[in-house]
Amino acid sequence: MQQNHTGKLPNPVKGLDFFKDYLQPQKQTRLVELAREIASEAPLFRPAMPRTGKQLSVQMTNCGKLGWLTDQKGGYRYQETHPQTDKPWPPIPDEILEIWASLLPDQPLPEACLINFYETGAKMGMHQDRDEQNLEVPVLSISLGDTCRFRIGGTQRGGKTTSFLLESGDVLIMGGKARLAYHGVDRIYSGTSDLLEKDGRLNMTLRRVSVIR
Ligand code: SIN
Ligand code: FE2
Repeated sequence: MQQNHTGKLPNPVKGLDFFKDYLQPQKQTRLVELAREIASEAPLFRPAMPRTGKQLSVQMTNCGKLGWLTDQKGGYRYQETHPQTDKPWPPIPDEILEIWASLLPDQPLPEACLINFYETGAKMGMHQDRDEQNLEVPVLSISLGDTCRFRIGGTQRGGKTTSFLLESGDVLIMGGKARLAYHGVDRIYSGTSDLLEKDGRLNMTLRRVSVIR
């Protein structure tokens, strides 16, 4: 199953696994429903850069024991509560955990599911995912809605990069050498999917945060 779904990357990056069209349309619709339910409990917010306070163009929320966020005062971090409601994040729905378990059966379950919402024009600058105590367990990312151009390089900022499209239903896993690879989203191609009611892209990023004892 895994082999059949692995998409071809233009320029393979070690440790990167690409599961093209992994999620059936029905499943994608269900995931959007779940994201809506999560956002009704834990509203989307606009994160801001540490120190400068410059707002990111992406809106976000989380589910799971831990949620990732950034703001001017506290910087990049995980915390157990929503920054505005101060309530615990809703749990990660089983249907999302099942995707993790189907692709990463030997890994401990994720504790954080970051949900990013990109409106047309939103993007994400090149960064590493390294706020987790645990940098061994891969990061699994689900794309829903409009197509984006995703960019990934090596573990040094400013190195050579490659880019490819992520479409609705695609799943990407960054493990091994790609776990600490710089990556970002260059742009969203508005109107390329009608999964969401309006234009835009949803991304769910599942991460294990703590080390396994
Ligand atoms: C991220 O790196 O946090 C998001 C990546 C994506 O939207 O595909
Ligand atoms: Fe990331």
